[in-house]
Amino acid sequence: MFARDPLFWRAGAVSSLIVTLVVLAMLTTDTLRVITAGGQNVPTYTVINHQIGYEYVTDRNEYMPTIGGQEPLFGKIYSPAQAEALVRHGKLVIQSRACLDCHTMFGTGAYYAPDLTKAWLDPAWEHLWMPMTGTHTRADAIAAFLQHPEQYPTWTREMPNLHLTLDEAQAVVAYLKWVSAVNTNGFPYGFKTAAAGGT
Ligand code: HEC
Repeated sequence: MFARDPLFWRAGAVSSLIVTLVVLAMLTTDTLRVITAGGQNVPTYTVINHQIGYEYVTDRNEYMPTIGGQEPLFGKIYSPAQAEALVRHGKLVIQSRACLDCHTMFGTGAYYAPDLTKAWLDPAWEHLWMPMTGTHTRADAIAAFLQHPEQYPTWTREMPNLHLTLDEAQAVVAYLKWVSAVNTNGFPYGFKTAAAGGT
């Protein structure tokens, strides 16, 4: 009987292992294709040089980011290398101050403060913070707020001053702008932009 032959079971184990490894490799490649910058769902870093919108797509029943025409960030158009360096710097600033001890991004973090995944698209920058900070662009308003959040409170809970320099604040702005252009399949749910007629 072949079922009594250990070699039969060994061949079975080895072949299922090989099949599993091939499937795992295929899934990993597929995931990387979707999640790397420049992939299907994540834009390249130079998206910081563009207008970002957020539109409701009826047949998907969710909001999707749209990438529009050129919109310089802090009056500048960044090369691919500069854009990547700036976004990376922003990520390191966010990690250095443990922003996710209070905030959430992509579902990770704490719920003490607003979700930052789509913070760049928050209509409050135009409605509240631009007038409060006396700035004329959304990017400048965010940078001003990040450097002195205690001076521009809009909520029941206040953000403490984490002593960000202008360079650090601008790098965080670039990071938030890039993140807002990631297609998160409508997450966080209930987030409304000015373009979407939200408040
Ligand atoms: C101790 C908790 C805490 C930490 C740490 C913190 N924040 Fe905040 N943050 C808040 C609170 C509370 C608000 C709401 C403040 C308001 O609206 O006046 C806020 C608001 C914001 C907003 C505006 C969000 C929006 O769309 O309304 C941004 C952007 C932001 N924080 C970024 C950061 C970044 C970047 C860091 C790290 C450098 C950070 N925060 C660290 C508590 C925190």
